Amino acid sequence: MSNILLAIMGLDAKAWEERFRALAPGHEIWSWPESFGDPAMMDYACVWNPPTGLLAQFPNLKAIFSLGAGVDDLLADPKLPDVPVVRIVDSDMTMRMTEYVTLHVLMCHRRQRLYVGQQRQRLWRDHEQPAANEIGVGVMGLGELGSHSASLLHRLGFRVAGWSRTGKAPPGVEAFSGPAGLEPFLRRTEILVCLLPLTAATREILNLALFRKLKYNGTLQGAYVINAGRGALQVDGDIIEALDEGTLAGAVLDVFSTEPLPLASPLWTHPKVTITPHNAAVSEPRAIVRNVVRQIDRCELGVGLQHAVDRETGY
Ligand code: NDP
Ligand code: OXD
Repeated sequence: MSNILLAIMGLDAKAWEERFRALAPGHEIWSWPESFGDPAMMDYACVWNPPTGLLAQFPNLKAIFSLGAGVDDLLADPKLPDVPVVRIVDSDMTMRMTEYVTLHVLMCHRRQRLYVGQQRQRLWRDHEQPAANEIGVGVMGLGELGSHSASLLHRLGFRVAGWSRTGKAPPGVEAFSGPAGLEPFLRRTEILVCLLPLTAATREILNLALFRKLKYNGTLQGAYVINAGRGALQVDGDIIEALDEGTLAGAVLDVFSTEPLPLASPLWTHPKVTITPHNAAVSEPRAIVRNVVRQIDRCELGVGLQHAVDRETGY
């Protein structure tokens, strides 16, 4: 039996606690801040957006589990204990993100916003419809989420490329890597999907200079950006400028530097922006708790943890 500490902010902490109690009957579950015993007893911490410095109060942690895929918030804690930090890699989350990316790539490809606008005007007008294989889709970040999304888009017939740090790509997906690979990747991309983690190297990468390198004169007659990675990857003002000058034909944004997106943000009302409330791939408690408990059981048996984060690269 091990002691599992839950420190969950911004999600329904009670629902997570219930799920842990149901799926980890062999372990003692403690919920910060309501109930936790001797800090020295805590073996594992399962967290989402815990307060900075909190985890340093638990001196005997064997591992910290992020209840989501992104660990940028966690790694920003200067007092984070020096134990493995494990992120979520789970087929439930991967499928949710793949659905989101596919939905919005198809919305751009099939010009769905245009037809919604036409319906409001009772306007019956058909527009030219390029085939998927005429369109270059580019996925930034070909990790767990990006590579699965890219593979499905490839199977739908799109010309798919991916940009990553090391250059590995699934079959059928053209690989670009590193700073030198970025410009050629952008030049052939009409629909840009961003599934990068937020690190020092990727912060504000989605800026005006980058948008101006996209292929804006392809069959879609405009480039699109879909960001479901992290809000601080994008510069909001640059997105608006790129939309207004015509460099971008549309933007689909699931993530923002400040969440919820402030009411005063001009993104809310921009006619070419689609906003979703950071729900491209939610952490579903049933799937994620099962995943984490399996990892804790492995750890207790002395088997290595999977998907531990590399603190050097930041993801
Ligand atoms: P992974 O760690 O599996 O993949 C990250 C990818 O980004 C890898 O391909 C990596 O390259 C690439 N990468 C990292 N740094 C760079 C760089 N400097 N230059 C080029 N490529 C880089 O992450 P996941 O796919 O699991 O998740 C991606 C992100 O999605 C998460 O970090 C999180 O922020 C976000 N997310 C958002 C959700 C939402 O609901 N909106 C839900 C879940 C996650 P390489 O392959 O070479 O290592
Ligand atoms: C995640 C997220 O990183 O939900 O899992 O954004």
